[in-house]
Amino acid sequence: MKKFLITLVMAVLPLTANAAGGSGHLDHMDVDLHNQASLQRGMKTFVNYCMGCHSAQYQRFERAAIDLGMDPELVQEHLIFGDQKVGEQMTIAMSAGDAGKWFGNPPPDLTLEARLRGPDWIYTYLRSFYADDSRPWGVNNAVFKDVGMPNVLAPLQGVQIATCSHEEMALHGMRGEGVDPLTNLPLNSCSSIVKGTGELSPEEFDKVVYDLVNFMAYIGEPSKLDSHRIGTYVLIFLVLFFFVAFALKKEYWRDVH
Ligand code: HEC
Repeated sequence: MKKFLITLVMAVLPLTANAAGGSGHLDHMDVDLHNQASLQRGMKTFVNYCMGCHSAQYQRFERAAIDLGMDPELVQEHLIFGDQKVGEQMTIAMSAGDAGKWFGNPPPDLTLEARLRGPDWIYTYLRSFYADDSRPWGVNNAVFKDVGMPNVLAPLQGVQIATCSHEEMALHGMRGEGVDPLTNLPLNSCSSIVKGTGELSPEEFDKVVYDLVNFMAYIGEPSKLDSHRIGTYVLIFLVLFFFVAFALKKEYWRDVH
C-alpha cells in the first residue's frame, strides 16, 4: 500500500509543476473560460494589437466566434482585416524570414503560448516592459531580458521607468508592492513609475491584459470549453444511471434473499 501511495504521489506531483519555469516574480491571474465578455474583449485586443506580427495559426476565426458567442458574420466584418475569410486560420501576412531580419527573432505563433509559458507569465510579461535606451526599440522587459518585441501596448499603458536593476525587478515584479521579506524594507524602493500617461489607468490596463491572456488561454485549449460542457452531461448521466442500476440490482436479488 505504501509503495502504491508513493508511486501515486510521484505520478501526480509533476503535474503541479509550473510550465513557465525559471525563477522570479510572476503576477497571478485566474483564467476564466466561462467569461464570454472577457474572451470577446481579449480577441478584439489580440486581433488589433498582436496579429500585426503574431499568428494563431491553429485557431480558426469562425471556431473562436462560435465558441465565444459571436456572430461569425460580424467577426468577418469587424475583426478580420484584408481578404481573409472567417473560415480560415488566424494567420498573418508577415513571413518568418522577414520578421527575423527586422526583429532579430521572428515573433512566434501564439496559439499554444499560454500552454508553453503559462498565463501568469504572459500576464506579467505584457505588463513588464520598461524604458531602456540601450535596446533597439527603446524598451526592455523584466521577465524577458533583452526581448526583441517592441512595447505595442505602450499607448494604453504609458512608458514604465524602472528605478532599480533588471535583476531586482525580475525578482520583485514591476509594481514593487509590499515589503521585502529579507530586508523588511518597502519594495517601492524598486518600483516602476509610469512616465507620460497612457490612455488607461493602471487598473484598466491590467484588465485589458487580463482579457487578452484569458483569450490566449482559450486558443491554447479551445476544446476545454467543450469538455466542461460534456463533462456536466456525463456526470448527470452517471447519477441517473446509478439509480437505474441500483433498482435493477434490487430486482435481481429479491428472489435470492
Ligand atoms: C511589432 C511586432 C509585434 C507585435 C505587434 C507583437 N509582438 Fe509579441 N513578439 C514580437 C517579437 C519579435 C517577439 C520575439 C522576441 C524575442 O524572442 O526576443 C515577440 C515575442 C512575444 C512573446 C514571447 C514569446 C516567447 O515565448 O518567446 C509573447 C508572449 C508575445 N510576443 C505576445 C504578444 C502579444 C500578446 C501581442 C499583442 C498585444 C504582441 N506580442 C504583439 C513582435 C511583436
